[in-house]
Amino acid sequence: MHSRWPRLEGLAYGGEYNPEQWPEDVWEQDVTLMREAGVTLVSVGIFSWGVLEPRPGEYEFGWLDRVLGLLHDAGIAVDLGTPTAAPPPWFLRLHPGAHPVTRDGRVLGGGSRQAYCPSSPAYAQAATGITRQLALRYGHHPAVVLWHVNNEYGAPVGECYCETSAAAFRDWLRARYGDLATLNERWGAAFWSQRYAEWDEIDAPRTSTSVVNPGQRLDFARFSSDALLACFLRERDILRELSPGVPVTTNFMATNCKSVDYWRWAREVDVISNDNYLIAERTDSYLDLAMSADLTRSLADGGPWLLMEHSTSAVCWQPRNVAKRPGEMRRNSLAHLARGADGLLFFQWRAGRFGAEKHHSAMLPQGGTDTRVWREVVALGGELAGLADVRGSRVEADIAMIWDWESWWAQELEWRPSMDLGYLERVGAWYEASWRAGLTADFAHPEADLSRYRLVIVPSLYLTTPEAAGNLRRYVAGGGTLLVSCFSGIVDAWDRVYPGSYPGALRDVLGVTVEEWLPLRAGEQAGLAWEEGDAVWAGSAGCWTESVKLAGAKSIVRYSDGPAAAGPAVTRYDLGDGRAWYVSARTDAATTAALLALACESAGLATALENTASASTALANAVRPAGGGEWPRDLEVVRRADGERQFITLINHGETSADVAIGDRLVAVPAGDVMVIRAESPPTVR
Ligand code: GLA
Repeated sequence: MHSRWPRLEGLAYGGEYNPEQWPEDVWEQDVTLMREAGVTLVSVGIFSWGVLEPRPGEYEFGWLDRVLGLLHDAGIAVDLGTPTAAPPPWFLRLHPGAHPVTRDGRVLGGGSRQAYCPSSPAYAQAATGITRQLALRYGHHPAVVLWHVNNEYGAPVGECYCETSAAAFRDWLRARYGDLATLNERWGAAFWSQRYAEWDEIDAPRTSTSVVNPGQRLDFARFSSDALLACFLRERDILRELSPGVPVTTNFMATNCKSVDYWRWAREVDVISNDNYLIAERTDSYLDLAMSADLTRSLADGGPWLLMEHSTSAVCWQPRNVAKRPGEMRRNSLAHLARGADGLLFFQWRAGRFGAEKHHSAMLPQGGTDTRVWREVVALGGELAGLADVRGSRVEADIAMIWDWESWWAQELEWRPSMDLGYLERVGAWYEASWRAGLTADFAHPEADLSRYRLVIVPSLYLTTPEAAGNLRRYVAGGGTLLVSCFSGIVDAWDRVYPGSYPGALRDVLGVTVEEWLPLRAGEQAGLAWEEGDAVWAGSAGCWTESVKLAGAKSIVRYSDGPAAAGPAVTRYDLGDGRAWYVSARTDAATTAALLALACESAGLATALENTASASTALANAVRPAGGGEWPRDLEVVRRADGERQFITLINHGETSADVAIGDRLVAVPAGDVMVIRAESPPTVR
């Protein structure tokens, strides 16, 4: 369980350190500069297998002994990697059967990293060997405060389709179903003559003539996530045995990794850590950052987490690697901190001179210390030292959003009613609406206890298990406000449609049936109109509409045109002590925001947008627009609290000053600036 934090003072600050790429005389300078920058933690050895074990069973640890000694003498702690993400060249030469194979049968070569089949016994043996040696040698080293297993499991190889993997898949299926009759029934094998009479007839769901059985695809996705998890557990258990007391992590890519079900993984790591890189093409990528941080915190069950990697400036792997502007790295860093991170690390400490990532930014750029990036890195180190008391406080979320990898997998298989309706698009749309309304969101598994939230949003849950449906129903009946967005509740865990009208699993939660999906052509729009009261309100949707029939719910918004014209578009169902909203269309941003405001109102949750109080009316020190003005559209507000103390982080992503009132106090956040306000009574500004 993720409850053990590394022995560290204050907030962790640092980066990935690759001393093996440099002559030893550079190391002293590295350590001196790390101290200047306020670095407290570095990750070492993540890609060092080739230099640690140049030939099978021959180890060279001297250099690592010296590196760890230097760091320890300087008071810098180490997150020590097991280097198993990058087997050395000898591995594939000795074990050609361990090459990963893609779905369309391409055998992937070496010369890069992550070139191994997760189910390969040879890989298991080699990874066990190097992990055991490292644990024996450094398990009690005073510098080592954290173990970093492998690197970004699931990327770039999330699934392997070699013969070894296919055999392991069959074993996994046998353990899951016991008999073929059950498997045939779950997979709907009566369709297209797919009934299995022998286990050995089952293959990995390779690229085929046409669409492959969706139940088989989903089980293969589950198997693949479990196969990677088995790799992690194998190393974790060695480390726990030989290095007791030192927590173990592996770096996630929360919102960015489709192939790994992190809800299952989160239970197995001691410290949740995440890597986050901005899509440089987007000018509002702070929204993605916030969503990733919120999902990471939720994987940590609200506890502290570590930002294992982000970048000081440009990355090197996007089509246009736009440099971060002055102040952007600080905003990014403090946003992660605001959303629950108790440590901030970068990829990488020193910019490399060779290899695929030599054009990637670093804490210490190619240009050395007389650079903007270095100055910002040093300033951030100083600032974090002054924010050490934030550590251990918990983020106060206003709402929850449901997140589910299984539904993501299922929704994006082939032959769906509209290829335009993607999982991340809807999650992102509802997330943005809440962010702009000044609400902080936790993410939750569909079967998790939701009772502490006043509002729960289900942006997209095509695959809904009966347990999830029962959970959502209990939440509403118990007094919660639920908002479910379109194309949810359709299929079970094997992509089988629930009997009866859509949305099968959620009909009795939402009080509606859907007779037909009415997806739109590319570029088409459908109008929405609010039919209640005097207010005249119009919205719009693209891509997706539905023919909704009321079955207990009330129509709140109707389609004003398009194929569902005059039918209900948005409904509300009063169930038990709560209410369930259904939004049957892919609404545009303004409509999504307006609907969120309606749902918040019905949940008794005031948003910053309403200009009345903060998102968290229950909290003292509500943040409001100053002087009754508009809520600043690009202002990020997040709270962490710990007993009596509150830390209110205000990040102005906009181009003009954001003026807000906190309690009685007026605060102007300059464009591009960040303020962390310690709120007691009255609040004091740092
Ligand atoms: C990933 C990897 C790192 C490095 C960075 C570059 O997050 O974990 O090893 O490749 O990307 O952005």
